[in-house]
Amino acid sequence: VSNYQKINQQYKGKDIISLQQFDTSSISQLFETTKHIITQLNTNTIVPYLQNKLATLLFFEPSSRTISSFSASIKRLGGVTIEYQNPLETSSAVKGETFEDSIKVFETYSDIIIIRHFENGSALRASNVADIPVVNAGDGYGEHPTQALLDMYTIHQRFNTLENLTGLIAGDLLYGRTVHSLLRGLSFYKGNTIYLLSPKRLMLPEKDVKEYTKLGLKLIQIHDEEDIPKNCQFWYWTRVQKERFAIQEEYEKIKHSFIITPNLLKNQGNKNMIILHPLPRVGEIDPRIDSDPRAWYLSKQMKNGMYIRMALLSLITGAL
Ligand code: CP
Repeated sequence: VSNYQKINQQYKGKDIISLQQFDTSSISQLFETTKHIITQLNTNTIVPYLQNKLATLLFFEPSSRTISSFSASIKRLGGVTIEYQNPLETSSAVKGETFEDSIKVFETYSDIIIIRHFENGSALRASNVADIPVVNAGDGYGEHPTQALLDMYTIHQRFNTLENLTGLIAGDLLYGRTVHSLLRGLSFYKGNTIYLLSPKRLMLPEKDVKEYTKLGLKLIQIHDEEDIPKNCQFWYWTRVQKERFAIQEEYEKIKHSFIITPNLLKNQGNKNMIILHPLPRVGEIDPRIDSDPRAWYLSKQMKNGMYIRMALLSLITGAL
């Protein structure tokens, strides 16, 4: 049973905590809104759906893309931001203020809170305290819903469907929050087959395999690059995350288990596929791949992050 409030095509005032809140109609609505925003950005630098709104970005964990794309989204929507990075070092949390009290502080001054935190469930905790919308920008190894939505938008942009796809998700499937959200999202659509390539230490937990399978995804676990089928429409690569390991030697041993090289792409890829990565990458994609037209991670995928977040914020605030 989900603890989360369903979107049901009514975004206004809702928290965005988990992909569990979504369904295909709500995702289609978001994609249509995203296209509308992109069209408007062709002729305007600002599309003022967040005018007179203030969003607080509260990032307890490091970020480049998520914080800057949210910040850019809010500003391109005509809104303003309070941006807090490392609150455990710079806010009154240093003096012992509780997480809940901190959320009340930022709620007082804001129309929306966007939070990244190192603990699973922290965004949900924040949403239980705040009466304004809270958006999960990544909670521990739980979920990263806006990343999954931009990933799905990017796959849809290439194939014009999210059904009957064959894809590969590789890397850290145990702690990879983007993977957890993306698998759930893909499970809403029929006929999808996903190959899961990971070191044994970082396999998708059995309970998740069971749950996504029950939801309709066909999951096939592999542990060797040679077992990647040649007909994948997308490869979604992820990094092994050193911050999730208590013992650093364990991380060092498996950090580069799977690397996309020109040879791997030649041997296991095909000409129609795209290559995605939520980034940052730390050696698991050879830079020689970057100039390949199938490599979308540094271009279309990242750009879609801003567009999808602009659409989402416009819907949550009720501007669209
Ligand atoms: N994809 C992603 O979450 O990147 P950042 O950690 O840089 O925000």
